[in-house]
Amino acid sequence: MPFPTHRARRMRQNPALRAMMRENHVRPTDLIAPFFVQSGDGVQLPIPSLPGQNRLSPDTAALEARQLWDLGVPSVILFGIPDFKDAVATSSYDPGGPVPRAIQKIKETVPEMQVICDVCACEYTDHGHCGILHGETVDNDQTLELLARVAVAYARAGCDMVAPSDMMDGRVAKIRAALDVEGFSGTPILSYAAKFAGAFYGPFRDAAGSAPSFGDRRTYQMDIANRREALREMALDVEEGADALIIKPGLFCLDLLRDAREHFNIPLCVYNVSSEYAMIKAAGQMGWINEKQLIDEALISFKRAGADLIITYHAKEWAQSLGS
Ligand code: PBG
Repeated sequence: MPFPTHRARRMRQNPALRAMMRENHVRPTDLIAPFFVQSGDGVQLPIPSLPGQNRLSPDTAALEARQLWDLGVPSVILFGIPDFKDAVATSSYDPGGPVPRAIQKIKETVPEMQVICDVCACEYTDHGHCGILHGETVDNDQTLELLARVAVAYARAGCDMVAPSDMMDGRVAKIRAALDVEGFSGTPILSYAAKFAGAFYGPFRDAAGSAPSFGDRRTYQMDIANRREALREMALDVEEGADALIIKPGLFCLDLLRDAREHFNIPLCVYNVSSEYAMIKAAGQMGWINEKQLIDEALISFKRAGADLIITYHAKEWAQSLGS
């Protein structure tokens, strides 16, 4: 063979050519911003382990949504921090709870904003598990009734999409049936299909006060070592009627995102979780990384792996950085 005929570097010679050769792009419309909402007025309470993120009340959530919309980010996902918790998550389906109120405020302020609601019990139970307990384990089928009730309550409050994150078996079918019966056949289900147990969600649990009071989530969230099982979980949710799938965490699961892209033709969403955000922020604060560049690189990695949508705490700062 002569000296290489193929020179990959030919196509990398200057910025214009590199821009032409770029295979993937992140757009503000790909992003979904997570909001932690609680009751009250004018609340903007910094979350120590998620620098730059705040707990919001419905009114401040609506203002924040307006800013995101103006930056081109069309969607938020809401997590509720209720006034009270009990063993059976009663406050999770309260129509006067922080999530329904925030939905209404956001929709009043920015009607076009796509408001997604996380559906889970862990923020609402006093034991911090994602469902109703039977002894020390979460009772799957009893929890399904609860999740369906929560999803209907959010749909009734005006949300655009529900996103069950509990990892109970059969919840997509159950929620679909309940939404349809109640007149919400047009409300899509964005299902957390492959969600892994681990230390990935620590800062989120600080923010939402939702850490389990005993044990862990390993009987319902998956083992991070399992790839085949992740595909099976996704296939089940597709069969049950999920409109789009979430893979979570994100940076730890890029391979699964690629697997999902190759197996399913429905929209895929990745959750760039709280620990991933916290790590970048902490290293950035220490001056150990180029934070802005690393955020760009993390987001583009999700697109390259096959994501359509990215739930990320970086949404606002990233969209703001486009204009600068
Ligand atoms: C609720 C829920 C969690 C996250 C999303 N939905 C916490 C958990 O499962 O413990 C985590 C998101 C993040 O870490 O950013 N079940």
